[in-house]
Amino acid sequence: MTATIQKQASWAKAIAKPATEFPLTQLSTISGKIPENLKGSLYRNGPARLERGGVQVGHWFDGDGAILAVHFAEGQARATYRYVQTEGYLEETKANKLIFGNYGMAPKGLWWERIGKSSKNVANTSVLALPDKLLALWEGGLPHSLDLETLETHGLDNLEGLENRLPYSAHPKRDPQTGEIFNFGISYGKNATLNIYRSDRQGKLLKKNQTNLQGLSMVHDFVIAGDHLIFCVPPLRMNPFPVLLNLQSYSDSLAWKPQEGMEILVFDRTTLELVSRSNAEPWYQWHFGNGYSDRDGNAVFDLVRYPDFTTNQYLKEIASGKTKTKAKGTLWQMRLNPKTGGFLETSQLIDRGCEFPSVAPSQVGQNSHHTYLSIHRPHADLQTELFGAIARYDYQTHTLTEADLGANRYPMEPLFAADPANPDTGWVITVVFDGDLECSEVWIFDSDRLDSEPICRLALPSIVPMGFHGTWRSS
Ligand SMILES: [Fe+2]
Repeated sequence: MTATIQKQASWAKAIAKPATEFPLTQLSTISGKIPENLKGSLYRNGPARLERGGVQVGHWFDGDGAILAVHFAEGQARATYRYVQTEGYLEETKANKLIFGNYGMAPKGLWWERIGKSSKNVANTSVLALPDKLLALWEGGLPHSLDLETLETHGLDNLEGLENRLPYSAHPKRDPQTGEIFNFGISYGKNATLNIYRSDRQGKLLKKNQTNLQGLSMVHDFVIAGDHLIFCVPPLRMNPFPVLLNLQSYSDSLAWKPQEGMEILVFDRTTLELVSRSNAEPWYQWHFGNGYSDRDGNAVFDLVRYPDFTTNQYLKEIASGKTKTKAKGTLWQMRLNPKTGGFLETSQLIDRGCEFPSVAPSQVGQNSHHTYLSIHRPHADLQTELFGAIARYDYQTHTLTEADLGANRYPMEPLFAADPANPDTGWVITVVFDGDLECSEVWIFDSDRLDSEPICRLALPSIVPMGFHGTWRSS
């Protein structure tokens, strides 16, 4: 009898050890040249420590957040990589052990020791660059404020108005014309409450509203389409008691209940008042792409759609360095009547496993020409692999242009940075882990030539593990 031994995928080397910070460092060029007009900062966030004291966290989402900043100016790049100095990170560092619970793990200790323990704000999901600070975002709590240049942590930030530590999710949307920033947070009581927020360009909270959801579900992202904010709430239902008693993690308490259907909520972006509320056939999404309002006033938006919540199991397995659960999310476009919440059309744009859709910041909420994505390589094993390519989907030609990075290279969410001399064109920046060389690099592509070699590759001083979301801040 022969036993099947699954070879560990190359990406696992990036997370095998906690990532190492580095101070502001001039980056050396591996190939090409930094474009003269590329001026600004790339910020990326992600879980950088998935183990402490020999104990592994329960889920990829549980790792302590660390931020990478790459500052581009005058054809040069300097970078720094720092853990967000959250209260929980500092306490666990001191104790050299995991203490707190999180999305995918109950707190450590005997059951009576766990009662009443709060979970750790890991500040690991995304970033929001404001004029005078960088916010490290996590959907279960307030953001942490950091120095834009050095990434020094200043502490929790309530945007001058989020009382009682109302959560501020990790997927804010910034209107490119008004500078207004929209976001939400889910708070839990007898029902789940959807809190929605509008801030000015400085991040200061201007208005908020709230509405109860049908059940104790989870919401990760939303979409802005013209004058509307749209939420598609998946049929997840949390069993609250084991979570309240810290006997079970939040993730493990979420049950997929397709019979409950999707709850669709549409809000007016100015008043934050509910426009419509409806139900639809179930699906699951983590992320939306862009949205816009068409000529008839209907909302058109993209999302990466999964048939169910199996994706959560796959993401949990990543923390162990070995995945076995296939969860394929593909890019879909939906057309919805915002007044009724009824779908007029839904169609799959690409039948390829992909994630992290993003658009040019100047096109958020408007009809955009392109969407950028992380995507699986054409013959990748979706059970065991992470994304090995990035791509651009063109809405006019309905074609996909891919940058296949080659075997054992893993890109992060691609982000578009406009050329100030010609804002319709620019660059796509990603951070790549090379599993053969066990190093990380910054890759810069011409946005119109993703299928050509990158125009510049820069060496990072240490491994920056694959993470979640980032932003480009032009200067
Ligand atoms: Fe996300």
